[in-house]
Order: sequence, then structure tokens, then C-alpha cells
Amino acid sequence: MLDTTYRVHILPGALDAVGGVVRVAVRAHRYAVVTDANVGPLYAERVREALAGQAVDVFTVPAGERHKTRETWAAVTDQMLDAGFGRDGAVIALGGGVVGDLAGFVAATFMRGVPLVQLPTSLLAMLDASIGGKTAVDTPAGKNLVGAFHHPSAVIADPAVLATLPVAQYRAGITEALKHGVIAEAAHFEAVAATASAIGRRRPDDRAISAIIARSVEIESAIVYGDYRESGRRKTLNFGHTIGHAIEHLSGYALLHGEAVAIGMCVEADIAERIGVAAAGTADRIRAA
Ligand SMILES: NC(=O)c1ccc[n+]([C@@H]2O[C@H](COP(=O)([O-])OP(=O)(O)OC[C@H]3O[C@@H](n4cnc5c(N)ncnc54)[C@H](O)[C@@H]3O)[C@@H](O)[C@H]2O)c1
Ligand SMILES: [Zn+2]
Repeated sequence: MLDTTYRVHILPGALDAVGGVVRVAVRAHRYAVVTDANVGPLYAERVREALAGQAVDVFTVPAGERHKTRETWAAVTDQMLDAGFGRDGAVIALGGGVVGDLAGFVAATFMRGVPLVQLPTSLLAMLDASIGGKTAVDTPAGKNLVGAFHHPSAVIADPAVLATLPVAQYRAGITEALKHGVIAEAAHFEAVAATASAIGRRRPDDRAISAIIARSVEIESAIVYGDYRESGRRKTLNFGHTIGHAIEHLSGYALLHGEAVAIGMCVEADIAERIGVAAAGTADRIRAA
């Protein structure tokens, strides 16, 4: 049977301690750190240092959703082959959800599958995209159409790296945490809403955001893996996404995913109130957040 258990480490400063976790979670001869042109210059050297004593190659792809393609997948796998990577290698995804999905798909397919460690660096990747084992690239026909399930051996999130994340990206990530609150836990919603309203003025401190990420990861993984076997429960993760995806598409992807989902959550809550499946005031409460 396939082992799908893995630990999610959430700790400020974790980036400088990845060596210990990686050595325990993955026994590999070489590590391919896949990152993008924004995140690589900021953090790849620290990861290399944290893995001192191990053979590490860094592969940098252009940043952005439009590079989450089969062409980029081909470029990375070709570079790994040129560098002599084999079955005894492992992939470390260092970046946001784009790098996580792309590097995950590389790990799923290189030599029919090598181990993967996720080092998510965006808020969205920490509390959503790095959990659940879905990997994919986009095609001209649409998003995430070619991919595979490939569970990571470990996820290591260092909230301190969010200091360099652009504020719009930070907000987009908070939207998914709000969603976790709406679908699973009022207290989480209130905690995230309190943090979200302050983001324009100042970032939440590492402890506050770590707690939010941890609770969101628990909710996300409980729904994806946990006790909720019925597919109905997994569908709740799509809250805000049906309309959100339509808005995202109509905007020609000028809106960030999280921005479109925020609008989608308001509209879908409105509809839910009208057809009587949500309590009156639900949409207003979400809008206020
Ligand atoms: N696999 C899943 O289950 C799943 C779930 C949700 C979303 N996704 C995917 O995730 C992707 C979106 O992820 P995202 O929002 O992280 O986008 P992203 O990876 O494009 O990151 C957003 C931007 O922030 C930059 N960045 C990331 N971390 C940074 C940091 N610490 N400092 C400075 N800049 C940083 C990136 O270079 C990029 O420019 C989409 O492709 C989506 O399909 C996957
Ligand atoms: Zn989403």
C-alpha cells in the first residue's frame, strides 16, 4: 500500500533547519531544489547551506502561473537528466503553489517517481497547495489538466519567509484560510478575519500567522485525508471556487486566484442564504472580513 502519511512542520526559522528533517524524511543521494526566479535568489542558498554535506543542485524556473507548463516540466527534467540525476535523487520544491505543483509533477514523473519535499514560501502554498498531494501543470486547454497524485515525504513551512511575499499575495492566501473557517470552524474564521483586516497596515507576527497556518492545515488535511471519506465533504473545499474560477477566467487572470475566490465566497454565501442552506447574515459576515 502507498504510504501517504507525512509531517507538516510549521516553524519560524525552519528554513535553516531543513537538513535534519529532509535527512529523516527522505534518503536520497542527491537533491534537486526546484525554485522560481523570485524565490530562488532570496532563499535557495539558505536551503543549500541547511543541506550542507549533501549533493544539492538548484534548478530555477521563470516565476508565474504562465510558466506552470509542460514546457517548463520538460526543461527541468532535461536539466536533471543532464546533471546525472537518477532514481536515487529527490526533489525539493522551494516556492509558491506554482513551483509546488510543477516540481511535484517533476517528482511524480522523473524516473517514474522520486521522493518530494515541499518547502512552501507563499501563504497559499503553506496552508493549501502543499497539502494533499495534487501536482499538475496547465495546458492551453485549461489549468491543472495534466498531473498526478504524488504525496510529499514532508512539508516544511517557515512563516518568516512571508516577510518578502508581496502584500496582494498575502491577502490572496488569507482568503483560503477564511474559507477553512467558513466551511469548518467559526473560531478559526474569527481569528483569520481579525488578522486579515490588519494586513494592509502591518503583517501578522510569526506566531499569529503560524497558528493560522497550523489550524488551516489541520482542517484542509482532515477534509482531504481524514475521517471525511464521503466526497461531499471534500467538495466543501470548493466553497467560493465555482464562481471564483469563472471570475478569475473572465478577468483574463488579471485577478489573483485568492481575490476571485473572495468575491466567489460572497456571491455563493448570498445564494446559499437565499435558497435557505446558510444562516441569514452569513454573506454579510464574510464580506466584512
Ligand atoms: N496542488 C494543490 O492542491 C493546489 C491548491 C491550491 C492552489 N494550487 C496552485 O497554486 C498556484 C498558486 O500558488 P501561489 O499563489 O503561491 O502562486 P505563485 O507560486 O505564483 O506565487 C505567487 C508569487 O509570489 C512569489 N513568491 C512566493 N513566495 C515568495 C516569498 N516568500 N517572497 C517573495 N516572493 C514570493 C512567487 O515568485 C510568485 O511571483 C496555482 O497554480 C494553483 O493552481 C494548487
Ligand atoms: Zn483556491
